[in-house]
Amino acid sequence: MTYPVIDLFAGPGGLGEGFASLKDGQTFKIAVSAEMEESAHKTLTLRAYFRHVRNAGDEKGLRAYYDFCHSDTAPHPSVVVPSAWAVAKQEAQRLTLGEEQDNATLDHLLRKAKVRQNDRTVLIGGPPCQAYSLVGRSRNRGKKDYVAEEDHRHFLYREYLRVVQKNRPAVFVMENVKGILTAKVNGRLVFHDILRDMAAPSEALGKARGPRYRIHSLVNSDVFETGMDPRDIDVTRFVIEAEKYGIPQCRHRVILLGIREDLKYDGRHHLKPAQPISLKEAIFDLPPLRSRLSSGDSDEAWRGEVKAMAERLQEDAIRNGLDQVALAMRGEALNLGGSLETGNLRYGPRQNPKSKDRYHRWISDSRLNVWLNHEARSHMASDLARYFYVASFGKAHGRTPKGHQNFTLDGLAPNHKNWETGHFIDRFRVQLEAEPSTTVTSHIAKDGHYFVHPDGAQCRALTVREAARLQSFPDNYFLQGNRTQQYQQVGNAVPALLSSQIAQVVSNAIN
Ligand SMILES: C[S@@+](CC[C@H](N)C(=O)[O-])C[C@H]1O[C@@H](n2cnc3c(N)ncnc32)[C@H](O)[C@@H]1O
Repeated sequence: MTYPVIDLFAGPGGLGEGFASLKDGQTFKIAVSAEMEESAHKTLTLRAYFRHVRNAGDEKGLRAYYDFCHSDTAPHPSVVVPSAWAVAKQEAQRLTLGEEQDNATLDHLLRKAKVRQNDRTVLIGGPPCQAYSLVGRSRNRGKKDYVAEEDHRHFLYREYLRVVQKNRPAVFVMENVKGILTAKVNGRLVFHDILRDMAAPSEALGKARGPRYRIHSLVNSDVFETGMDPRDIDVTRFVIEAEKYGIPQCRHRVILLGIREDLKYDGRHHLKPAQPISLKEAIFDLPPLRSRLSSGDSDEAWRGEVKAMAERLQEDAIRNGLDQVALAMRGEALNLGGSLETGNLRYGPRQNPKSKDRYHRWISDSRLNVWLNHEARSHMASDLARYFYVASFGKAHGRTPKGHQNFTLDGLAPNHKNWETGHFIDRFRVQLEAEPSTTVTSHIAKDGHYFVHPDGAQCRALTVREAARLQSFPDNYFLQGNRTQQYQQVGNAVPALLSSQIAQVVSNAIN
């Protein structure tokens, strides 16, 4: 018996992947996933196709998928196996929720899938977070005529409410950024209203009484239900710290588990803490890539530029008494002559990582012969120096350098007016190899300064595939769209392996 899943605001499908992959698709099946952005929707559809042919044991369909991964010239699976592609298209829908026409299409699809008739339907996905997030708020506040109350994104969660009210799922899993805990509209905490509304969605929408929900934490026994005062709740108890559950990334998100009241669930199932996975364990088996110069790139030009820069910085570090950093730089510089690839999308041959722990089993695929989405970005020569420096500093001190206090060497301080005020103290940040990474956000799509690879000899930001590893996307998860869009998708997602653990909790709860 499989339970239908409705996946809203589905992005590239990190959350959906965890549910749809649990026990090879035998526990949950995505009825509809809805996403408005074109490239994320392409990723979603291709993945739906892959899961469909894999779970059905469709060898022709699988061959078409791997051929497509392995070669730029292979035909698209939609051409090779149109029937399987049609199934994927039915599942992954490009819809803009909140728009009348698309709301109606979603309703129609859900009616067709008979999700309301199923007593164990699961709804996953959280309304988009831009308007809630701390970064978004401070940015918006700077706009002259910004009024939070009028930002429709604040109320997109109402669309989610509407779907809950209409379809009465047994469970909902709602994800959002931590900033939602402190976001306010008209002086009221948005999160308190969300708790009240999600506990009684019908009443929230002004409808006659409908199903109510108890809202559980996934990591402790705290629960909210109608009649309680949200002010009596410690809202931080709904925060999930991904690094505690075997994800190589410190990603802290609010995740609500709503269970329909009639299911009489007592909240006993929680995520199980796991061994931490360091960044090194997560990404160091990927082939080293040199970055590229944004103008006049060639292997020779890059090496020449980087070697000269490394020598200059070492001398400068010694002159300024930064002996440990200078020593680390020497080590990194020695590796500059090593085998660094220029980095293209399909660098081969790929081998599975040797480690056989849960994380590595999850990302592995012995049929995949290539690296997908592993392509180095281009950087300005001045940024190469900063990357080399922060990576060396990380090696020397086990931390990333802080702003202008640690960027004392000539030519390193960016020409940025906020630099000295400390507002951009972390403008360049190396990810440390011995720890889980910091949060992979969609900011990585703009520039890679927060996500500098700890190997100074590569002089670069993380690739999409490395970021995807930190988000625990399996290696065979082929992200579509251009590179910026791929970064954006990865940064938006719920870590897929975390999602599979959430799916297990949900499965336990509704059984
Ligand atoms: C935080 S991401 C979701 C990540 C997803 N749960 C995952 O795990 O991969 C939010 C997504 O909502 C999409 N989105 C925003 N507004 C939307 C709307 N009105 N209708 C449909 N999708 C929307 C965005 O394009 C983005 O991909």
